[in-house]
Amino acid sequence: MNDVHFNKEKGSQLKLFTPGPVYVPERVLKELAKPNDTHRSKPYSEMHQMATEGLQKVLYTKNECLIFTSSATGIMEACVRNLVKDDEKALFFSIGAFGDRWYEIGVSNGKISVKEGVEWGKVITPEVAQEALSKDKYPVVFIQANETSTGVYNPIDNLAPIIKDSGALLCVDATSSMAGIKVEVDKLNIDVCLASVQKCFALPPGLAVCSVSDAAFDKAEKVINRGLYFDLIGLKKSNAKHQTPATPPIPQIRGLTAQLDFILNEEGLKKRFERHEQLGKQTRKWANDINLEMFPEKGYESNTVSTIRNSLNLDIPKMVSMLLGEGYRIVNGYGNLVNKTFRIGHMGEIQLKDLEEMLKILTEIINKLK
Ligand SMILES: Cc1ncc(COP(=O)(O)O)c(C=O)c1O
Repeated sequence: MNDVHFNKEKGSQLKLFTPGPVYVPERVLKELAKPNDTHRSKPYSEMHQMATEGLQKVLYTKNECLIFTSSATGIMEACVRNLVKDDEKALFFSIGAFGDRWYEIGVSNGKISVKEGVEWGKVITPEVAQEALSKDKYPVVFIQANETSTGVYNPIDNLAPIIKDSGALLCVDATSSMAGIKVEVDKLNIDVCLASVQKCFALPPGLAVCSVSDAAFDKAEKVINRGLYFDLIGLKKSNAKHQTPATPPIPQIRGLTAQLDFILNEEGLKKRFERHEQLGKQTRKWANDINLEMFPEKGYESNTVSTIRNSLNLDIPKMVSMLLGEGYRIVNGYGNLVNKTFRIGHMGEIQLKDLEEMLKILTEIINKLK
């Protein structure tokens, strides 16, 4: 099976059912291989503008959209450095590993950081949010939409109004749901909504994107020591010329432009969100049918990544490796959840038929391991 792994001539032949990086379609790979003009040229600016305007449509927003040469973690750090003054307290809601990471970014940047967490597998409920917000004055609040470690989708549509009512700026990490699960930035008044492109956008890793409200830009103007590479004000100035302050990965931006065109004009957002919903439902039905329990609290399961409890006491590394032998990759649980759970990613360009084919083989493997 060597040729399904690293393959010098053909590239990896594995079918990825991962929570990112995900399978990238051939048509996107071809876009990435096309030549480009420089990042200070008119053709580049036209392309950049197409990307940022496409992102506004995906996010249902008139807010400015920015492109970062980093993964999502870069924008998470940018939010902390640009929006929190040194004498302010920032509130980080955490429902899993990536919520914890955002809090750690706050701490490591010397910001006064407060974490409000719940047991993994659960969500921040409106009650938990109210209670946390009533304890102190928090000018900025950070929260995940989709938590990729636990496979939980926070009820962000219900939480955003509560957080905004407190007067805080709201930063939402939609890394593993943007372009797969609908989030209406203007309706929810989200100040920063961010993601990296190796998840539901189905691009290779290397870029991250976000929307930024005027209120967030205004705040950034008043924060000192924002740094240089991830300075929101510097990025905004360049964005006005449809450029970035430093050299961006231009082929990636071509790929993003092509993928946005596909998402908006070929598949359509409605159908894309519905397909992800179907993929989530089908995975949950499969798990239930073979007596595997979902890890998340019922009703809050993600439609882009399923975190499944190891309720059959399976040898997960062996299961993952047997499936690899068949040309498919799924992944073990994240962090503390290793071997207690495993995860199936069903985001990006995965179709129902692809999922069903993989699940059929996985069922045979599980029957052998039981
Ligand atoms: C919810 C969430 N936030 C943040 C990240 C970090 O993203 P990146 O690896 O693109 O920095 C991930 C990565 O899996 C994620 O799933």
